Amino acid sequence: MCGIIAYVGSKPAAPLLVEGLKRLEYRGYDSAGMAIVTDQGTRILKAVGRVSVLEDQANSAGDVVGRLGIAHTRWATHGGPTQVNAHPHTGTTADGHTVSVVHNGIIENHSTLRKYLAEKGHKFVSETDTEVLSALIAQLYHGDLEAAVQSALREIKGAYAIAVTCDREPHTLVCARKGSPLIIGIADQAYIVASDASAIVSHTTQVITLDDYQVAKLCAGPNDSNTAAGGPWSVDFKTTTIDNVPVPLEIQELELDLEQIELGSYPHYMLKEIMEQPEAIRDCLRGRIDMREARVVLGGLSARTRELVRAKRFVLTAQGTAYHAGLIGEYLIEDLARVPARCEYASEFRYRNPIIEDGTIITAISQSGETADTLAALREAKERGALALGAVNAVGSSIARETDAGVYLRVGPEIGVASTKAFVGQVAVLTLLALYIGRRKHLPELAVREYLAELDRLPAHIQRVLEQSDHINQCVQQYIDRNNWLFLGRGYNYPVALEGALKLKEISYIHAEGMPAAEMKHGPIALIDDGMPVVFIATKGSQYEKVLSNIAEARARGGRIIAVATEGDDTIHSHADSVFFVPAVPEPLQPLLTSIPLQLVAYHAAVLRGHDVDKPRNLAKSVTVE
Ligand code: G6P
Repeated sequence: MCGIIAYVGSKPAAPLLVEGLKRLEYRGYDSAGMAIVTDQGTRILKAVGRVSVLEDQANSAGDVVGRLGIAHTRWATHGGPTQVNAHPHTGTTADGHTVSVVHNGIIENHSTLRKYLAEKGHKFVSETDTEVLSALIAQLYHGDLEAAVQSALREIKGAYAIAVTCDREPHTLVCARKGSPLIIGIADQAYIVASDASAIVSHTTQVITLDDYQVAKLCAGPNDSNTAAGGPWSVDFKTTTIDNVPVPLEIQELELDLEQIELGSYPHYMLKEIMEQPEAIRDCLRGRIDMREARVVLGGLSARTRELVRAKRFVLTAQGTAYHAGLIGEYLIEDLARVPARCEYASEFRYRNPIIEDGTIITAISQSGETADTLAALREAKERGALALGAVNAVGSSIARETDAGVYLRVGPEIGVASTKAFVGQVAVLTLLALYIGRRKHLPELAVREYLAELDRLPAHIQRVLEQSDHINQCVQQYIDRNNWLFLGRGYNYPVALEGALKLKEISYIHAEGMPAAEMKHGPIALIDDGMPVVFIATKGSQYEKVLSNIAEARARGGRIIAVATEGDDTIHSHADSVFFVPAVPEPLQPLLTSIPLQLVAYHAAVLRGHDVDKPRNLAKSVTVE
């Protein structure tokens, strides 16, 4: 995935683009670039590495002026992260003007188009699919950029969010989307186009969101030649389909505060997002717990309650951390709603000709709502007749829009690449879903009341776990030189072990494996040598004694035991070298707490090893390609 930002308006574009790129940098950070357009032509800057390298380049050039520009921060798909492959890419029109394009997505038929355009005389300099698109737009340009973009997109297969300029039209910005996100901010005498709201909110809260196959033409220019430097400027926008059919789009108010995306006093977004979990989960649960009736209230599902209650099977689908939330959902839905449930990697599910019986409900779980495989799996199941639900954080995202019903996580924007508060939000929403169905079927009111009361106390419980951050840091310091860790849990805490291992791998680059505690004996126990850190989720519950036996087995082989245990468990210290405590809650709610010390383990390990916590190598926040 990549981040794109574009500006047309009365102010110099370059500083605005750099500021926007910094906000979008979490989406990709291999390389960055920008094109600034003036009456005199197009100025392109590109840099390998972080946005700050591009910023230095623009500052030292000193003459990058112009009030129309497009910019991009890249996560490489086609072609390595080199200066040549960085966006913007360009094409030359028949009359010698430059067309520049920034693109997020993937052009599937780029090879055929590349051959066709090469025969027409286009000289390609990069290996990217985007350069093919810029050449195609240039080829089809006859003095009208909007028309050229529309024609080109009619030839394209694949996914795109694009922003395009041509220096023959130095006051016009054209953008379009299909499958990749794009929103347009309407600011004072300007338009700002970006992959997500975080790059827009400091300028305006008025936005329009393009749908698939829609194109926007955004114009901003001085009323007369004397006002070029100041204003007033006139602005004008128009939206059409790629077939040039006008589509009136509504202006919406952005539900995002600048404060939510600012780092504040935290050193990293990941730490901020871990620490704000009490508040995030309070927001997630707000209005959804009716203690008087002992019921869960989910407005987004109310129209589908009958189908939910009659559901014969749940298929949960997701990737990455969201997949681990889905695995917990599998336990929750079977246990509390008594409906067979299976969680599958979206990338596997979609290609294996899945059987969708009557009464199947597909539930896509996603922070961004844009993960390409998750979206494709959702579509596949829908086409085969499943009712489609979503548990999504990003409001208005592709997955949210394509589901029949859903529950937003409401945990606020997540910027850190390693997902933390969104994971806990996903698990909370799946817990609510299971209780929503269970209460309408067989769960006694008293049991639901107890779960809901504990959920209500969850923010305070999470706060207690977070207070152990310094203690967790000290513990991690003891093992920071170890390159192999094991994470083990049983039942509801088995997916938590998987997630603990993934977090550690993602940001500290330490090899870690998560698995069911009992599975250790079937092979991985061979890995345990003297001093190897073995993390056990050893909370009080139906399998507590069994976990203690597994701890003894690991300890006997030299493993150093780090246990996540229940407050008040006085004996655990005799089994483990280090202990992190979580408040006592019923088993189905334990993952909401046991996952939190493991987030802190990963965070502190990454900081101690000196890694860039918010921008781990090779990773992107959301993977919008397959
Ligand atoms: C990427 C991110 C993960 C995330 C996964 C799914 O791999 O690095 O943190 O869990 O995508 O993303 P989603 O937005 O669908 O939850």
